Amino acid sequence: MQKVAFLGTGLMGFNMARRLAERGFTVVAWNRTYSKAKPLELYGVKVVEDLPRAVEGARVISVMVSDDNASETVLVEAFKHASEGAVVLNHSTVTPMHSGKMYLSARERKLSYIALPVMGGPADALRGELVGIAGGDREVLDEIKGYQESLFKKVFYVNSAEEASAVKLALNSIYFSAMIGLAEALVLVEAWGVTPQKFLDVASELWIRPIIERYGSRLLAENYPVSFKLRLAAKDMSYALSSGSEKGFPLPHIATMAQTLLIASQSGRLGEEDYTRIYRFLKGLR
Ligand SMILES: NC(=O)c1ccc[n+]([C@@H]2O[C@H](COP(=O)([O-])OP(=O)(O)OC[C@H]3O[C@@H](n4cnc5c(N)ncnc54)[C@H](OP(=O)(O)O)[C@@H]3O)[C@@H](O)[C@H]2O)c1
Repeated sequence: MQKVAFLGTGLMGFNMARRLAERGFTVVAWNRTYSKAKPLELYGVKVVEDLPRAVEGARVISVMVSDDNASETVLVEAFKHASEGAVVLNHSTVTPMHSGKMYLSARERKLSYIALPVMGGPADALRGELVGIAGGDREVLDEIKGYQESLFKKVFYVNSAEEASAVKLALNSIYFSAMIGLAEALVLVEAWGVTPQKFLDVASELWIRPIIERYGSRLLAENYPVSFKLRLAAKDMSYALSSGSEKGFPLPHIATMAQTLLIASQSGRLGEEDYTRIYRFLKGLR
């Protein structure tokens, strides 16, 4: 099987690398903090301490790190050591500006590059049920069909790496709007003496039922396990905002979400907790 170098084994990358290994790929993983990647060995992944060792000879180089800065740091190194003909897949949620820059940089080194951000969380990654938005060198997409089929239930192609990142940020802005909208609605009704469950029962009879099903109990849970960190949600909305500004568009609703998430993520350790903790944060504001 093709060698895949997997760079960045946080909540998402860990499960993606594990899934690929379980589907028969030869996976070599690298993470900035080695100890966090080490348990991947239990699933047949080779874990290395040096990034160059991970990418040497790899047909596919996958990147799943937190933001533009992390992605640039990792990619600059990966580009230096990538073998000829390697395909670089960047799954990280980054700005369109960053995707465009990295696409050109890969080109200069004669490497194929696809921005392939994902919808879905760590559990979806482990089940191979992510949805991908791919943009960049389309001709190599067919060559990585087995990779796609192992991790994704569907991959949509948009023309460029920039477009893929713009679509990802736009989709997240809808998710977060729904989630924060429900969190504020709960704060409002509770302030007037309505129990959360009573409110969720009413809302579940309406077309917003899927939002209630997705976020209702997750918002109210005392200890929901971290699946998506609040600080990364703040990053996403700040990236959506700057991506709008880049094209001259103010996005006032996204701006409010970005600020709300940023303030919350800087409150104690909340930034490291699940993004649905925003409800607890809002409740504590009175
Ligand atoms: N979690 C989700 O549900 C989800 C869903 C879709 C997309 N995403 C996106 O996927 C990406 C990863 O998310 P995640 O949930 O896996 O986050 P995470 O658990 O916080 O993992 C972040 C990863 O980035 C690495 N990293 C951070 N800064 C770095 C740097 N300067 N140099 C090298 N590596 C660096 C971390 O390494 P260390 O271990 O050394 O810190 C870790 O491997 C983000 O862009 C996120 O927005 C997440």
